[in-house]
Amino acid sequence: MSKSLDTSTTEAAQTVTEVIDTIAATTPDVRRAVADYRGQSNSVNPTGDDQLAADLRADELFEQQVLGIDGVASYASEERAAVKTTDGRLHIAMDPLDGSSNLEPNSGMGTIFGIYSEQPPTVGTNLLAAGFVIYGPITSMVVARDGNVREYILEDGDKRVVDDEVTVPEDPTVFGFGGGVDSWTDEFESYAEEVRHELKLRYGGAMVADINQVLTYGGIFSYPALESRPEGKLRVQFEGHPMAYILESAGGRSSDGDQSLLEIEPDGLHERTPLYLGNDDLIDRLEANID
Ligand code: AHG
Ligand code: MN
Ligand code: MN
Ligand code: MN
Repeated sequence: MSKSLDTSTTEAAQTVTEVIDTIAATTPDVRRAVADYRGQSNSVNPTGDDQLAADLRADELFEQQVLGIDGVASYASEERAAVKTTDGRLHIAMDPLDGSSNLEPNSGMGTIFGIYSEQPPTVGTNLLAAGFVIYGPITSMVVARDGNVREYILEDGDKRVVDDEVTVPEDPTVFGFGGGVDSWTDEFESYAEEVRHELKLRYGGAMVADINQVLTYGGIFSYPALESRPEGKLRVQFEGHPMAYILESAGGRSSDGDQSLLEIEPDGLHERTPLYLGNDDLIDRLEANID
């Protein structure tokens, strides 16, 4: 279970609520941007991803809205090199559009956010709250704060709670592993071989949707260490920490192969990590399998 930092000071709690509501209120514009900005932008982000015009537009929308909140002191994004700062006290890190390679085939995409007490790059235990949005058939939002996880449906940017205590189901049924068999390390391949006989493969290429499968059905999502890239693909600050906070708040576990992802203190803002998230017994077996 993640150590949820005390947001009992009304000021911090109010700012956390305002950030969550502002992100929700921005989603209709992001949904429109996803439809209108389908082209490439001829630029790459700090981790070398090609940036779609929709990546940049979503980033712009969230920066404007989130930095306009009184209690917010900084905005960090996987789409930009530097953190933008202003006066305030809480720090926001966002993956403005997650799974943007799914834009072309119109598959699942979303937004991931973390609300930190310290400016990124910072350790995951400084998270006060975290969440994600899915722009699916329904626009939905999952939010973890104060040790609890809630799911909302968003209509015109307003939140309507549909589950006020999301927990990872005891009996896991799905797995989704990124990277592709021929690039996995031998240990991971042997773990995957074991798991695939017990679970059903559900992998959609967008972390938000694949993590939501694990929250819905129980199981494990991983973008593991690869032979060619021991640090894996996904980013600590913008994908690893927030999703770890959510999974651990929902009774699951996270790991980089050794420890909770929340224990990672990234040196750089855009550091990557292998990541494993899901039911605790599946993560325990994984850690026993791979050194
Ligand atoms: P983003 O679109 O924010 O760059 O994230 C994409 C990530 C993540 O959402 C997903 O789990 C993973 O990339 C998929 O990678 P592959 O395309 O290699 O499967
Ligand atoms: Mn990207
Ligand atoms: Mn992403
Ligand atoms: Mn992204």
